[in-house]
Amino acid sequence: MPVLSPGQPCKEVVLRDGRKVVLRAPAWRDLDGLLTFISELVEERAEILRTTKPSRGEEAEWLGRRLAAIEKGSLAALVAEMDGQIVANSEVEQRTQFPEMSHVGYLGIGILKNCRGIGLGTTLMESLIHLAKQLGLRIIILDMLATNTVARGLYEKVGFVEVGKIPKAINRDGKYIDLIRFAIEI
Ligand SMILES: CC(C)(COP(=O)(O)OP(=O)(O)OC[C@H]1O[C@@H](n2cnc3c(N)ncnc32)[C@H](O)[C@@H]1OP(=O)(O)O)[C@@H](O)C(=O)NCCC(=O)NCCS
Repeated sequence: MPVLSPGQPCKEVVLRDGRKVVLRAPAWRDLDGLLTFISELVEERAEILRTTKPSRGEEAEWLGRRLAAIEKGSLAALVAEMDGQIVANSEVEQRTQFPEMSHVGYLGIGILKNCRGIGLGTTLMESLIHLAKQLGLRIIILDMLATNTVARGLYEKVGFVEVGKIPKAINRDGKYIDLIRFAIEI
């Protein structure tokens, strides 16, 4: 059973600068909004693992798999919508491929530049942790580039701890960057 069905609202939030966002599960109608969203992050060269823009077909395949996982109850996802635009995307996916790890979820989060630093990341992380508990998860893990000090601040603020490091796992523009793994028991 899904914890939030595709398109279902989770909450409305007033951010620190007074702007309002709706947090809800993604739906098919978000295909173009999500494509624009990820394209902006890639263009900005944000500190995420994805570095190439997906085609519309690739994004549709990806969204189809996400929505199927939501329906199956193995994924909790939240987009943030502001004035009809998707300004953030986030999710926790259960590790279903290994039965002995089915209590573990993998988290990802991204926010558009003009909506950062005003509490949206904190709200999304707290909501995702709540949804992950409802999915029956006990542990959430995530990976980040060692250079991403803003993300580190967010993860530590909501209770994640650094549990590992893969030195030089990322080669960005000819420079090696360590990959840091964080985890939280919920
Ligand atoms: C990382 C990210 C999700 C953080 O979300 P956010 O909405 O900016 O975070 P918040 O405003 O809720 O702030 C949470 C904490 O992050 C840190 N932080 C936020 N903005 C910061 C800034 N400009 N400088 C330093 N630390 C900052 C602080 O520790 C802050 O805690 P505080 O509110 O008590 O000061 C967001 O910046 C983002 O999407 N960045 C680009 C994509 C990305 O890096 N994704 C994560 C990949 S692992």
